[in-house]
Amino acid sequence: MNIAMLGSGFIGRFYADSLQGYRSKDKIVSIYSRKEESAKKFAIDYKVNHYTTVMEEAINRPEVEVVCISLPNNLHEQAVLLCCKHKKAVITTKPLGRNAEEAKRMLLAVEQAGIFNGYLEDLVYTPKFIKAHESVKNGALGRILWAKSRETHPGPHSDWFWDIEQAGGGCILDLGCHCVEITRSYIGKDIRPIEVMCWADTQVKPIDAEDHAIGLVKYENGAIGQFEVSWTFRGGLDLRDEVMGTEGTIWINSFLRTGFEMFTSGKGGDYVAEKAESNTGWLFPVGDELNELGYNHMFMDMFNSMEKGVQPKETFYDGYVVNSVLDAAYKSAKTKQWEPVKLDIWRGGEGVNRDSSLVEYDADHYLVKEEMTHYGTKKLILKNKQSGKIIEKVVV
Ligand SMILES: NC(=O)c1ccc[n+]([C@@H]2O[C@H](COP(=O)([O-])OP(=O)(O)OC[C@H]3O[C@@H](n4cnc5c(N)ncnc54)[C@H](O)[C@@H]3O)[C@@H](O)[C@H]2O)c1
Repeated sequence: MNIAMLGSGFIGRFYADSLQGYRSKDKIVSIYSRKEESAKKFAIDYKVNHYTTVMEEAINRPEVEVVCISLPNNLHEQAVLLCCKHKKAVITTKPLGRNAEEAKRMLLAVEQAGIFNGYLEDLVYTPKFIKAHESVKNGALGRILWAKSRETHPGPHSDWFWDIEQAGGGCILDLGCHCVEITRSYIGKDIRPIEVMCWADTQVKPIDAEDHAIGLVKYENGAIGQFEVSWTFRGGLDLRDEVMGTEGTIWINSFLRTGFEMFTSGKGGDYVAEKAESNTGWLFPVGDELNELGYNHMFMDMFNSMEKGVQPKETFYDGYVVNSVLDAAYKSAKTKQWEPVKLDIWRGGEGVNRDSSLVEYDADHYLVKEEMTHYGTKKLILKNKQSGKIIEKVVV
């Protein structure tokens, strides 16, 4: 695949490492960056033939087959519209838009142009997520009741993130977009998110946006999603998921505790892992960040799907749904009420009922709980179907 990369910063370089390092048949053939020296440095580092400070020039080259958008949030729409104009396949980083309106315009534009579109939500492509999601799909956890995702770190690395106009929001948008798509995937992307309750505050940083938030997302089948996001967390990048179902539980720690622990007095120490705050003492490095963060599996899915002419797992539509949930979160943080998720475009199930979880014990009773006690008897807690009375039965 011949790729034009727009943006040569933090994520542009992570993407380039993944794109050129693994599939080996993919090549960045053009790089756009705002500053000539950054574009040139990127071109040298990644052996890219063409560099430019004119966005359209990077996109509209005959050899470019797909455009990868790695630009600040306020530039995503402009870049997407240029891809539509030149009928180039487009994959864009998260969040899709600064809000649902922007995301919807981008979704409609790519679909009208008939171009391939992929949403680069890497955290639903991590090896741990993929394995956990398979187990959920196979029913190992039963009916999913609650899915929580947490992403917190000490704050982003570039000026524009901290400017609400360019970024579109604070940690809710920047990190909550990951958490919402992770939890939505566990609960089921066909299930409609209906309303959101969110607390948000600016506890530490001198900014107009929020630097810490917690939110609940209610789904039509009765499941609840939860996100915890912060730009004020100290200690590195905390990425954790928890899933609770009627038959099981999953806990995933994706970054701070991956089973790799190391102590160093500091001699020779340098990069440890994204957002690590220290390179001395006890450290928690990450073996292969490109893989652990899902970039490799993500680009594999994007390009294999493009080659097969099918949709990837994550499209602009998913980015739009995520933006819509986050818009409701922002509203709720202000009104302190549950706020409805406004989805003008919804392609999932409609009128999904809450599943029944009643377990039949006998003709007259439902089973509430069964427990083996420490003193050797087995107890059954039963509910009478007619009277509703709860009784206890000891089995010897
Ligand atoms: N895990 C992830 O998926 C992940 C991680 C980090 C960032 N991102 C996303 O990637 C995008 C870029 O973030 P980043 O961390 O690479 O930022 P960055 O600041 O490191 O890099 C941004 C790039 O865009 C260019 N740029 C900045 N301002 C510009 C302007 N006004 N006009 C033109 N070009 C400009 C910069 O020169 C640079 O090349 C954002 O949408 C961010 O949310 C995604």
